[in-house]
Amino acid sequence: MAREIRKVGVVGLGTMGAGIAQVCVQGGVEVVGCEVSAELGERAAERIGHFLTRAVEKGRMEQADRDAAMGRVRLTTELGDLAGCDLVIEAAFEDLDVKRELFAELDRLVGDDAILATNTSALSVTEIAAATERPERVVGMHFFNPAPLMALVEIVRTELTADEVFDAAYAFAERVGKTPIRCHDTPGFVVNRVLIPLLNDCVRVLDEARVTPEDLDKGMKHGAGWPMGPCELVDLVGIDIHIHASEALYAALREPRMAPPPRLVRMAQAGLLGRKTGSGFYTYDE
Ligand code: 3HC
Repeated sequence: MAREIRKVGVVGLGTMGAGIAQVCVQGGVEVVGCEVSAELGERAAERIGHFLTRAVEKGRMEQADRDAAMGRVRLTTELGDLAGCDLVIEAAFEDLDVKRELFAELDRLVGDDAILATNTSALSVTEIAAATERPERVVGMHFFNPAPLMALVEIVRTELTADEVFDAAYAFAERVGKTPIRCHDTPGFVVNRVLIPLLNDCVRVLDEARVTPEDLDKGMKHGAGWPMGPCELVDLVGIDIHIHASEALYAALREPRMAPPPRLVRMAQAGLLGRKTGSGFYTYDE
């Protein structure tokens, strides 16, 4: 019998972690959010509060529900405070060693029947799980950016993931209003396996066809029905994050289309990382 997921730990409260925490509290679940500093934790809570306030202003949420959701957020800088969580979703920096260290520590801290999930976008869930003594209770839960707006969550199993854990992660994603899909641990899982080389092709076509980012974005929005253009999307995801995912897929699959286009690498070297730095393909005010 699967343990009911009442309290969720979120490790790392950057864009993805804060978004995942927002999804959970909006879905009625208690969250303990862990960041390396109190300041970063506060910043994430403010971000969640801001989006929930916007929802109230737009008449999509009652003020009382907003306050109740914010009341379900608890912040900490101590991993030990996640000890009572039924599910911990890790959304830390995309570095295998960092994630393996975190999982080894979480494994020692949480209850025996707790589930450990990683939001990695391109690393191996199997390698992360191998850092624990409970690989059967480790699963991938890959949310998409921006997590509160994107319906999809990929539920990723390794060869060792227990059926009950896989099903519990799937059911939890549904419970908090998401549309989960099931897949096995392979490089890029489902969507990034297709989307990363496609976005890389988009960047290469900028130089090949000498098309501007504006026109390429118009082309993909109005000719292929994308909700936002590829240049806007890479700016949203973060050019460094996209390069990192491309490199991980290239290392695993050795397909030239997976390798980050030199134009993107040069942009990252120049500090043009997209929305978060105020400029990428476009410039941003906020
Ligand atoms: N972030 C942003 N907005 C949020 C939010 C959050 N965390 N939470 C709530 N919101 C609210 C905002 O308040 C905003 O309302 P406001 O502007 O009135 O304040 C509202 O949501 C946004 O609504 P919009 O009307 O701007 O939404 P759109 O209809 O324009 O859709 C979109 C936005 C859903 C982002 C759409 O453009 C889209 O689908 N884009 C594609 C995104 C995509 O492909 N993401 C996947 C990236 S790949 C990935 O994540 C994989 C990873 O591994 C790299």
